[in-house]
Amino acid sequence: EKGSFDHYMRKEIDEQPTAIAQAVRGRADDGRVAFESLSDGAFADVDRVQFVACGTSYHAALYGAQLLRDRGIPSRVFLASEYATTAPPAGDGTILVGVTQSGETADTLAALRRGRSEGLRTMAVTNVVGSTAARECDETVFIRAGPEIGVAATKTFSSQVVTLTLLAERIRRDVTGSHSEAAPELLDALSELPSAVGSTLADSSAESIAERYGDSDAYFFVGRGSAHPVALEGALKLKEISYEHAEGFPAGELKHGPLALVTPNTPVFAVATGAHTEKLLGSIEEVSARGAPVIAVAPRSEEAVAEAADDVLWVPESHPELVGLLANVQLQLLSYHTATLLDRPVDKPRNLAKSVTVE
Ligand code: M6R
Repeated sequence: EKGSFDHYMRKEIDEQPTAIAQAVRGRADDGRVAFESLSDGAFADVDRVQFVACGTSYHAALYGAQLLRDRGIPSRVFLASEYATTAPPAGDGTILVGVTQSGETADTLAALRRGRSEGLRTMAVTNVVGSTAARECDETVFIRAGPEIGVAATKTFSSQVVTLTLLAERIRRDVTGSHSEAAPELLDALSELPSAVGSTLADSSAESIAERYGDSDAYFFVGRGSAHPVALEGALKLKEISYEHAEGFPAGELKHGPLALVTPNTPVFAVATGAHTEKLLGSIEEVSARGAPVIAVAPRSEEAVAEAADDVLWVPESHPELVGLLANVQLQLLSYHTATLLDRPVDKPRNLAKSVTVE
């Protein structure tokens, strides 16, 4: 039921504080990460993590893999459709993690089956109890977001990121004997994340930004580090539901090609997390010099970024590893408002299905 909302997507964006709280509940008590289904030391033998996923889940996996790498665990993400045809080298200590909201995406299931057939340990990170991925994998961690009806994945991205954040800490502890140095602050920030998302939603200027830039030729999204998957996700969401041309790039890649597309009529959304600020400022300068309007998506502590930008979508302060998730909430709202201004069928965009069950 949509209740008072015009669209399921809008309702599901609003449900994120609850969804995130559910993903964390009982999993980060007393400064220790625990998953109901996984015994202590379950990952002690893991020396490498490979993720397979598609679309929005691929972006969440990119986020998670970066957290793992930052904790010293070699991790890579593969588009499931590519992994199924050209699987990378793996060994006894490799765990293959399929990130899939529905648990039914054919490309992801095929990649997981390929890994299994080569003897890899497999794990599903999914929203759906009893889904094919959950049934076929050796282990499953549920993201506990509740049902998602809108074709555009919104709350499930946030729940995946939160679950993968916990998983990264958990794998790190099993492998090294202790959580990362960042863990105490990160876990605190996770418990405060529902209210941070709530205030992002309550105090967003995304609608007026959507109106201001609604008549553009194309929309670009840039970010570094954990802001890179957020840039990719911001662009995917916008193209999926508004049908506007949108692309996400790692900020450093702009000058290697995409800059040729930048004009005064291509707004650039620059996602700032508090890390790599100097370099992001350089990217902002590159696009500003070509006349492109820059909209920073940033916490208030990123003063220099806000000053260099023409407009700002503010996000609350949080742990640097979680600011990207808050920025993504702003970009979800931006896509939603851009699509509704254009009168698009937000919950059922053309040519797309909620669950893609063909390879
Ligand atoms: O159910 P899954 O997470 O496996 O689905 C993967 C993609 O098809 C999905 O995330 C798709 O990209 C969304 N519609 C994006 O909003």
